[in-house]
Amino acid sequence: MHVTTTHSNADRPYLGFGLGLRTEHYEAILAEKPAVDWLEILSENYMVDGGKPLHYLERFRALYPLVMHGVSLSIGSGDPLNMDYLKKLKALAARVEPRWISDHLCWTGIAGKNLHDLMPLPYTEEAVKHVAERVRQVQDYLGRQILLENVSSYVTYTQSAMSEWEFLSAISEAADCHILLDINNIYVSSHNHEFDPREYLRGVPAARVRQFHLAGHTYNGNIIVDTHDQPIIRDVWDLYAEAVRHFGPVSTMIERDANIPPLAEVMAELDRARQIAGPILKGQAA
Ligand SMILES: [Fe+2]
Repeated sequence: MHVTTTHSNADRPYLGFGLGLRTEHYEAILAEKPAVDWLEILSENYMVDGGKPLHYLERFRALYPLVMHGVSLSIGSGDPLNMDYLKKLKALAARVEPRWISDHLCWTGIAGKNLHDLMPLPYTEEAVKHVAERVRQVQDYLGRQILLENVSSYVTYTQSAMSEWEFLSAISEAADCHILLDINNIYVSSHNHEFDPREYLRGVPAARVRQFHLAGHTYNGNIIVDTHDQPIIRDVWDLYAEAVRHFGPVSTMIERDANIPPLAEVMAELDRARQIAGPILKGQAA
């Protein structure tokens, strides 16, 4: 399969180093105004008509550039697109004016049932066509391009006819959308399905990559589960360094979803990301 590998970073918006905003850190961030370049909000948390969430949202919006990240688009599902959800997403985007909006390359339900999980798709031409068509519909409705994030997976389909990175790349090209690369998810899936995570990085069209997620996971002695409840491990930091070497400046953030530590701990992880990326980017600029 043909993959565009233009290494043009000129038109890639770059926000620097950010954090996934979590309610546990609301007060600390407002009080300390830490040196964070941007925040990623979870869209579903603010799809309300008023009250506390929107009050906080306005305060963060005044302090930091924001991007929106959702979990409910279910872009791979066979069900019709949820227009009620999209309407709320569009209204929230009008309020937030985010730099971009992302969701996951997955399906979360079928026949009206929500599995509350990010399920992988079979990597087939048929699925590429199906998802790309739906991404185009979403982008037309929102009036902007979206980012799709790679999920971690624990199962594969016998129907799959290409690699995960070929699938992600083909959809981004066919739908003309952007990519959010979760470095931890690449690592998790590479372990569970025994592929080379570096080959994944090299197989993705660089010009479409807009954002990185960095997170921790749980290893149960057999498979790795993408729990986002632990510090980032050494191998994922190494893969992040490789990603920075390959893609150049890409907006990077720490994504912690459970077992939320004090803000200082996540800030320390963000500093480590800066320390890893800084010299590499400096060397590339020289
Ligand atoms: Fe992620």
